Amino acid sequence: MKILISPPESTVKQLLLEAELPTLDITPEKLKTFFACEVNGEVEGVVGLELDGPVGLLRSLVVSPRSRSKGLGSALVAYAEGVARAKGVVWLYLLTTTAERFFKRLGYEGIPREMAPPEIQRTSEFSTLCPVSSVLMVKQLSVNPTLKPTSHESEVA
Ligand SMILES: CC(C)(COP(=O)(O)OP(=O)(O)OC[C@H]1O[C@@H](n2cnc3c(N)ncnc32)[C@H](O)[C@@H]1OP(=O)(O)O)[C@@H](O)C(=O)NCCC(=O)NCCS
Repeated sequence: MKILISPPESTVKQLLLEAELPTLDITPEKLKTFFACEVNGEVEGVVGLELDGPVGLLRSLVVSPRSRSKGLGSALVAYAEGVARAKGVVWLYLLTTTAERFFKRLGYEGIPREMAPPEIQRTSEFSTLCPVSSVLMVKQLSVNPTLKPTSHESEVA
């Protein structure tokens, strides 16, 4: 499996539309933090990230029907989590109507929508594109660095 960074807009939109996932807010700017997996030269899955400091939104996860249940979905989530962690994301959120159990297995926990931080409330997925019935889930990717005594000590040293 090969990961493509910033995959072509048409490919991303086609996969999402086939799975009835939102495409309306996808712009070239947003595609810079989208990732696709390619198998035998074909894009078989996509995932996107929206980054806002220590808060991130994982979105637009889709695997083409012919390639499901081979680990691609989990691999794309793991890749996106790695990128988010490297960019300083501590809490990675997502909204889903269909895949709550899938994400639970990957360590995400469902929380009330009212608990969404402002960074998530501002996203178009949260405010307009995902139905109010969608479940908000979150995973802590790392310990908040500002709470780590070691990093504080190294700052003052
Ligand atoms: C959800 C999705 C990305 C998973 O991709 P995948 O490549 O099949 O995932 P993996 O191969 O890593 O994992 C497959 C496992 O997850 C389970 N799974 C897949 N989709 C699931 C769902 N919606 N709910 C619960 N479990 C699900 C499968 O049953 C399988 O379990 P098994 O290994 O015990 O058989 C894919 O089913 C998909 O594209 N669905 C349509 C779009 C969607 O719902 N995206 C999420 C929107 S937030």
